[in-house]
Amino acid sequence: MAQSWSPQSWREKPARQMPDYADQKALEAVETRLKTHPPLVFAGEARNLSAQLAQVCEGKAFLLQGGDCAESFAEFHPDNIRDTFRVLLQMAVVLTYAAAMPVVKVGRIAGQFAKPRSDDTETRDGVTLPSYRGDIVNAMEFSPEARANDPQRLMQAYAQAAATLNLLRAFASGGYADLHNVHRWTLGFIAGSPSSERYRALAGRISETLEFMEACGITPASVPQLRTTDFYTSHEALLLGYEQALTRIDSTSGDWYDTSAHMLWIGDRTRQPDGAHVEFCRGVKNPLGLKCGPSMEEDDLLRLAATLNPENKPGRLTLICRFGADKVGEKLPRLIRAVEREGIKVVWSSDPMHGNTIKSGSGFKTRPFDRILKEVKAFFDVHRAEGTYAGGVHFEMTGQNVTECLGGAQAITEEDLSSRYHTHCDPRLNASQSIELAFLMAESLRTERMKTRFAQSA
Ligand code: PEP
Ligand code: CO
Repeated sequence: MAQSWSPQSWREKPARQMPDYADQKALEAVETRLKTHPPLVFAGEARNLSAQLAQVCEGKAFLLQGGDCAESFAEFHPDNIRDTFRVLLQMAVVLTYAAAMPVVKVGRIAGQFAKPRSDDTETRDGVTLPSYRGDIVNAMEFSPEARANDPQRLMQAYAQAAATLNLLRAFASGGYADLHNVHRWTLGFIAGSPSSERYRALAGRISETLEFMEACGITPASVPQLRTTDFYTSHEALLLGYEQALTRIDSTSGDWYDTSAHMLWIGDRTRQPDGAHVEFCRGVKNPLGLKCGPSMEEDDLLRLAATLNPENKPGRLTLICRFGADKVGEKLPRLIRAVEREGIKVVWSSDPMHGNTIKSGSGFKTRPFDRILKEVKAFFDVHRAEGTYAGGVHFEMTGQNVTECLGGAQAITEEDLSSRYHTHCDPRLNASQSIELAFLMAESLRTERMKTRFAQSA
């Protein structure tokens, strides 16, 4: 029998990566206030996402999850929200065409603030201060005042998440997401890309398809679905006091939902089966992600899957694999075989970012585009060899023209990194690297689909 669960039962368990607050009373006061604030998402939306992820689980849809490593208060601006949303839509259209199936779009946005850190402290020039843990906890500047954990930041994060979500909903339903618009932006991107030749053929086929649909009378005016889109939010369920304050009973189903986002994931550093983060997540009905890094063993995974998805429901659990380009080939097959042997239903997604971080000569944390692409390709290859479905991808990206990851068609070099390095945590793909990656993945997805089609008709 599973032990009883409540939104605060995690407090009885060991919790890693949680900030200590000097003023506990102030923290409690903020959490109490947050409990009276409106939910950010509605349980019915989280259920819709679960249903769409169940389709991914069955190989009938593809998951695209992406956004900031860490949202920040300083970068909070409507243009940033718009540009990230736009790039995700562009990627989704390319992937939808290539895979010929629906793409489920989930942003790392509107709540992705709290960060786990490898070290509790940071030392610069002989001075040691607490690490930066994301704008919801403390500030990035290296001073004792900035690095002090401030409970009031929870309120600011909530307000920013609410405003971000409001704009995203307006974009998704108000006409901005019109399929023709999205494709026009992509044509604009191709015109300015050094690799335009490579992408022009696929983009041309999408243009032809849209013209054909239009000739048949399938236009945004006649088919509203072409004007709107479903867009979901997600973040790491790390700062559990905040998550608990937004966890509410859904009056329709009587179930508990964490209304801070549609989907939540458990980070690679906080996935201890007996730990607080797993305890919290097992009790909410939102679809869950679980990061799987190189130290994830088969037994851990099976135990976590049993705890987080005891009814083995497709769409409940997404395994977000982040092994590193050189380790996927060795680590992933073992996990896939264990999951297959036990008949466990999961969505397999690839996060090719977190296992491929390096330090550049100039001291910047960066990720080479080639390694990112290599890990995604290896992920697809392993699934092909195992006969399982590579269902999705998970990126750290932004719609801005930053210089944080090396390479890509713009050929960002180590010397370029300092010019527009804005991330508050890990290096993100910029707009052009993100779209490029979608095109490169599209080539693999399309080849795959053609093979299946010929195999079926042979
Ligand atoms: C992240 O997704 O930003 C993150 C910290 O990932 P992981 O838990 O996989 O290291
Ligand atoms: Co990150």
